[in-house]
Amino acid sequence: MDARVRPLATSMKKDITHPGGERAPAAAPVTLRPAILSDVDPIFELIDRVSRTTTVLPRSREGICEALRDFVVVEQDGRLKGCGALNVINRDLAEIKSLVIAEELRGTGLGARLVQALVGEARRLGVRRVFALTDSVPFFRKLGFKPVDKATLPHKVWNECIRCPKFLNCQEESVDIILEPGGEAPPAGG
Ligand SMILES: CC(C)(COP(=O)(O)OP(=O)(O)OC[C@H]1O[C@@H](n2cnc3c(N)ncnc32)[C@H](O)[C@@H]1OP(=O)(O)O)[C@@H](O)C(=O)NCCC(=O)NCCS
Repeated sequence: MDARVRPLATSMKKDITHPGGERAPAAAPVTLRPAILSDVDPIFELIDRVSRTTTVLPRSREGICEALRDFVVVEQDGRLKGCGALNVINRDLAEIKSLVIAEELRGTGLGARLVQALVGEARRLGVRRVFALTDSVPFFRKLGFKPVDKATLPHKVWNECIRCPKFLNCQEESVDIILEPGGEAPPAGG
């Protein structure tokens, strides 16, 4: 991910109210920014946790380092609360990978903001088509992605699948979005 991507202040979509009705203290502001080396361990931990229960593939710390410039992270109060990566595959195509929002912040619009930032970066680079392999198709649909036949993706993409422990029981579907030159960012949460 390019260091010129500007940090993006994000407000929380949901009001947090205690069961008794009184309002919780205001949540600390959330920032989206390109990843740096000190994010490697928290990114590893976020991905490692969800990779046990979702289609998100585990990644080694070394693999995260190698792809560090692909990553945008979500930070709150100095803590890493989300990550996502844009992996450019060829001149036309990029993949959104390793998309995770910490459990306590899910449903607050941050996943959508992260995808928008990654798609914005794809647009800046001149990528024409962005895809994701996911079990969260409705989430991606709200952001303008459409289900697509896996056969339209290059063989290179499947090399990773073959090494995946979930290969024989894979729940992933593919979705993509075509970026028109000079087009708009996808909608925020539908
Ligand atoms: C998938 C994930 C990144 C979504 O992030 P999030 O911050 O919870 O999503 P948002 O709050 O931005 O949701 C945006 C919209 O999508 C909807 N949405 C989010 N996840 C959804 C899901 N799994 N199914 C259906 N709709 C979903 C939200 O309700 C919201 O709709 P609204 O705008 O009408 O209210 C998050 O749930 C996550 O980290 N999951 C575990 C890891 C994972 O599965 N990653 C995706 C693999 S590619």
